[in-house]
Amino acid sequence: MPSISILPADRVFVLTGAGVSAESGLPTFRASDGLWAGYRIEDVCTPDAWRRDPAGVWAFYSARRAAGQKAQPNPAHFALAGLESQLPGRFFLCTQNVDGLHERAGSTNLVHMHGELAKSRCERECGRPPVEDHAVYASLDEVGHCPCGGRLRPHIVFFGEMPLEMPRIEREIGRATLMIVAGTSGSVYPAASFVHWARAAGARTVYVGPEEPLNAAAFTHVVKGKAGEVLPGLFQVES
Ligand code: OAD
Repeated sequence: MPSISILPADRVFVLTGAGVSAESGLPTFRASDGLWAGYRIEDVCTPDAWRRDPAGVWAFYSARRAAGQKAQPNPAHFALAGLESQLPGRFFLCTQNVDGLHERAGSTNLVHMHGELAKSRCERECGRPPVEDHAVYASLDEVGHCPCGGRLRPHIVFFGEMPLEMPRIEREIGRATLMIVAGTSGSVYPAASFVHWARAAGARTVYVGPEEPLNAAAFTHVVKGKAGEVLPGLFQVES
């Protein structure tokens, strides 16, 4: 694939998914050996699961924390951080990933639309901000409480809850001229709609991943390959 030019007038919006962390050793969700093959979403990632079985939800996210803490950023994370440094003020990263690998690679202008593993927040939505929390809990007794009395829950967007930072994300998509999407199957909304919003706003749209996503038809280019192998050489920033 010849490189894709990023012109001086371009503004770039990037959306990443679990595939971008696959080469760091973290499993994706929907692969045959992915997380949702071993767990049911309704048991670990819904408001109802939290009400019924907070211990089970914490066991799942404690295991994710333990795995995430061992993982290192891979060339895909570094390529996106490098692109940001070449495009000051013209680059925005929206990740569905709850690991911190983009930040650890050097990305700064980013949002975690599905939350962050390394934080917890009050289950009562009492208004206090999320707190940094790296603990891997062996039992529910170890989980702390908010000053208001609510139990701390993972700072993760459960299915049925509103993703975070949506007004800012919509604003950034509206002004982007190039959308780069990598490592996401296009199964979860609203993220799977972003490419349609970008196309409607006139942007070029590029997908990078080993398989076509469900929304492949909406992309101007689909580049097949692993993000860590494709992203480092895909873009040429023109001055
Ligand atoms: P999925 O597991 O649905 O999709 C992962 C995608 O990554 C697939 O399309 C793979 O082809 C691709 N992939 C695998 N290895 C790759 C590699 N080395 N380079 C690039 N791509 C690769 O994961 P997501 O689309 O991220 O939400 O899932 C979206 C949301 O569903 C997640 O944020 C999570 C999940 O349930 C919540 O937990 C709220």
